[in-house]
Amino acid sequence: MELRLEKYCAQAAKLSRSQIKAALRQKRILFNGRLAKGGEKIIPGQDQVCLDGEELVWQQHIYLMLNKPKGVVSATRDSREKTVLDLVPEKYQRPGLFPAGRLDKDTTGFVLITDDGEFAHRMLSPKHHVEKAYQALLAGSFTGEMARQFETGCVLKDGYQCLPAQIRLLEQGENALVEIVLREGKYHQIRRMAAACGSRVLELKRIRLGELPLDPNLAPGECREILHKELHKILTTSTPRDQERP
Ligand code: URA
Repeated sequence: MELRLEKYCAQAAKLSRSQIKAALRQKRILFNGRLAKGGEKIIPGQDQVCLDGEELVWQQHIYLMLNKPKGVVSATRDSREKTVLDLVPEKYQRPGLFPAGRLDKDTTGFVLITDDGEFAHRMLSPKHHVEKAYQALLAGSFTGEMARQFETGCVLKDGYQCLPAQIRLLEQGENALVEIVLREGKYHQIRRMAAACGSRVLELKRIRLGELPLDPNLAPGECREILHKELHKILTTSTPRDQERP
């Protein structure tokens, strides 16, 4: 794989193309020990590129944590709607980015965006049971029967038997604010589980993937890179065998 120097630098240094152009004008970039002019073809892992004396190391894949706002679809492209990829700043853009898993248009919170298909496959594979934690506002009162149904595995209106899930009441007012932890990710799952219990989801936010919580410093619509040391926390699963499907 070959890349133009500007693109290589923008991705490796997480800078915009205009910042790279400025760095080129200011003669701050070296290509294989010589002053870079711009437009050179770079072979990652073979050529050496330095910015301000620091080598720019090519990262094969990128992993982003997005705090998805409402009204944005979890798709790579959409002719009418704004997508989660439209929210990724230029410095993180690269070919092949996609959201690993979907949230509904009105659900907010943690979406992982990556260009690493193998990682996404492991994260989404039902066999890994990666936990997904949500905060949900459910219409009406939280009941013991609702807790029992979630914890033993709700039967959805189409007959699907869910895996056991955890549910915990955080606050009861006119409606119930709860935390829900799932180990599977079916279409509209929480909305359908709530409906199976005679309730309705008013608000839904994903707050954790595996053991990695949504960064509280990310405002809705903002994203940041997931650090290498954080990445393995996503695949850490704590599903004891006896909590699997009865
Ligand atoms: N469950 C839902 O119903 N919707 C989501 O977006 C995520 C989980």
